[in-house]
Amino acid sequence: MRLLLAIETSCDETAAAIVKDGVSILGSALYTQIPDHHKYGGVVPEIASRKHIETIIQVINSAFDEAGLTLDDIEGIAVTVGPGLIGSLLIGLSVAKAIAFARNIPLIPVDHLEGHIYAALLTDPEITFPFVCLVVSGGHTDLYFVRGHGQYKLLGQTRDDAAGEAYDKVAKFLGLGYPGGPVIDRLAGKGAPNLIRFPRAYLEKGSLDFSFSGLKTAVCNHIRFEKGHEDFGPDNETMILPIVTGFQEAVVDVLVAKAMDAVMKTDSHLLAIGGGVASNSRLRERLAYECKAGGIRIVIPPARFCVDNACMIGAAGFFNQKRATQDWSLTAQDSRIASIL
Ligand code: KG4
Ligand code: ZN
Repeated sequence: MRLLLAIETSCDETAAAIVKDGVSILGSALYTQIPDHHKYGGVVPEIASRKHIETIIQVINSAFDEAGLTLDDIEGIAVTVGPGLIGSLLIGLSVAKAIAFARNIPLIPVDHLEGHIYAALLTDPEITFPFVCLVVSGGHTDLYFVRGHGQYKLLGQTRDDAAGEAYDKVAKFLGLGYPGGPVIDRLAGKGAPNLIRFPRAYLEKGSLDFSFSGLKTAVCNHIRFEKGHEDFGPDNETMILPIVTGFQEAVVDVLVAKAMDAVMKTDSHLLAIGGGVASNSRLRERLAYECKAGGIRIVIPPARFCVDNACMIGAAGFFNQKRATQDWSLTAQDSRIASIL
C-alpha cells in the first residue's frame, strides 16, 4: 500500500491526511477544538466526542480536496486506536472502519505515541535507527529507545502528571486559559529565567522516569500566595512572568537532563522529539544546544507535526503495514496498544 488515508481523533483535534509512501503529505486537514474547550480550562471529553462527530467527514473531505484525490484512490486507512479519550477515539475508528468495510480495504491500527515518534520520520525521512525519542504531550512524558519500525523500548515515563498537563494546570491556575503550553511558552520568552527557583524532581539516581506533580503543587502554592496581592491577575506581567519562567525552566531542565541521559545510556547518536510540548521554544533551544555540544544529531519536527495531527499517524501506519487488518472487531483503547510494546 502506497497511498493511505490517516485519521486521528484521540483528544481534541479532528485530523485527516492523505499520505503517500509514508512521508509525502498530499493533503492534510485539521479542526482544532481548542476554542470549544478554552472556557473550561481543559478538554471536556463529552464535548470532544460530539465535535469529532460533527466535523470528521468535513475534515476527511478537505484532506482529499487538497490532495486532488478521492476515496477511490486510497489503498488503506491508518487510524489511531489508543491511547486517548475513549469517546474521541471511537469516532475516528468507527469512521475508519466504515470506509474500510465499504471499500474493502484494510485498516492499520496505530498507537498515538508511536505517531508522535513518527513525526521525526516526516521531518527527516533519512533518519537512521536506533534512536532515542522524547515524547512530551498533554497525557504522556515518555522516553523511548526506537530500534526499528514498530520496535520501541520504553526507557522511562512519568510517574504522575505529564509535562503538558503541568503546563495546562499552571496556566489554568493563573487564569491564562487552555491550552497552557503555547501561552506560557510565549510569556516565559519575555521573563528572567532564575528569578524564582521551583523544585526539580530527578527521582532516584539513574532513573529515566519523570514526576511533575510536585512542581505543579509548588507553583500552584506560590500562585495561591501571590493571589493575596490585590493587583495579581493574568494581565499583570510583572507578577506572572517570573512564575511562568521559573516553572518552564524547571520543566525543561529535567526533560533535557533525562533525554541526554537516555542518549548516553543507550549509546545513541540521535535524539528525536515529539508531542505537543516538543513545540516549546525553550525546550527546542536547550536540546539543540546540548546535542550540538555532545556531538549528537537531533531531529526537531516543525510544530505542526509535534501537536496532534494525522500526518504522523499516516507515517506510522505506512511503516507498520504488517499490522493491516480487516478484523472489524478492532476496538479503541485507553492504553498503549499491546501489540507494539
Ligand atoms: O501532543 P498534543 O497535541 O496532545 C496530546 O497528545 O496530549 O499535546 C498537547 C499538549 C498540551 O498540554 C499543550 O499545553 C502542550 O502540548 N503544548 C505546549 C506547547 N504547545 C502545546 N507545551 C509547551 N510549550 C508549547 N509551545
Ligand atoms: Zn498527542
